[in-house]
Amino acid sequence: MSFIIAIDGPAASGKGTIARALARHYGFHHLDTGLLYRATGARGGDPVRAARALTPEDLDRDDLRSAEAGQAASRIAAIPEVRAALVDFQHRFAAQEPGAVLDGRDIGTVICPDAQVKLYVTASDQVRAARRAAELGADPAEVLAQLRERDRRDSERATAPLKPSPDAVILDTSTLSIGDAIAAAMAEVERLLPR
Ligand code: CDP
Ligand code: CDP
Repeated sequence: MSFIIAIDGPAASGKGTIARALARHYGFHHLDTGLLYRATGARGGDPVRAARALTPEDLDRDDLRSAEAGQAASRIAAIPEVRAALVDFQHRFAAQEPGAVLDGRDIGTVICPDAQVKLYVTASDQVRAARRAAELGADPAEVLAQLRERDRRDSERATAPLKPSPDAVILDTSTLSIGDAIAAAMAEVERLLPR
């Protein structure tokens, strides 16, 4: 059985950076599941058909990181049939040996409820907006408004809303450097990794 690390959290909390670092350290596969929703939105047309037709090549598009792609993703991510169409791919990815790290919104709650490690990475919305604005070279106030809108939509939707799994360890990175955040996440994995 493969070892699964599920990392969820709101936008720009640091979950992707932590997920990549853990995957590199342990030699596990890594999937940024946000890309599935971003790529589905970017295909355009009927979102349910787009989700069903998604190919791994779609995840390599270089326009997926924009704020617009993020907003489009969160709108189509509220559609239950879109989410259902993306489940198999995530399950197959998670089953890869020797292990997999998946980051998103519903990994610990819906996609991999039996994951050996569940982390919920968060930070204040001001801090998250400042980080994302620095990455995109955008205005922090504008990014903050967009981020709040997206978090609200993700948390309030009926299907697979953003929320910590009751058994997730909460990691608030508001005052942590990225190195300290990775170290804290790794300490949690070390505690649960079979030796
Ligand atoms: O994947 P997610 O949207 O949650 O966030 P990310 O892409 O991992 O992180 C967003 C940005 O915040 C990146 O530029 C990280 O390097 C930065 N970051 C940070 O400065 N300090 C942290 N403790 C965590 C992330
Ligand atoms: O990197 P960031 O956290 O800003 O966004 P992302 O992880 O790429 O996710 C983009 C959007 O996809 C989110 O706002 C969610 O609406 C949706 N998403 C989701 O519904 N479920 C997931 N497992 C991952 C992303």
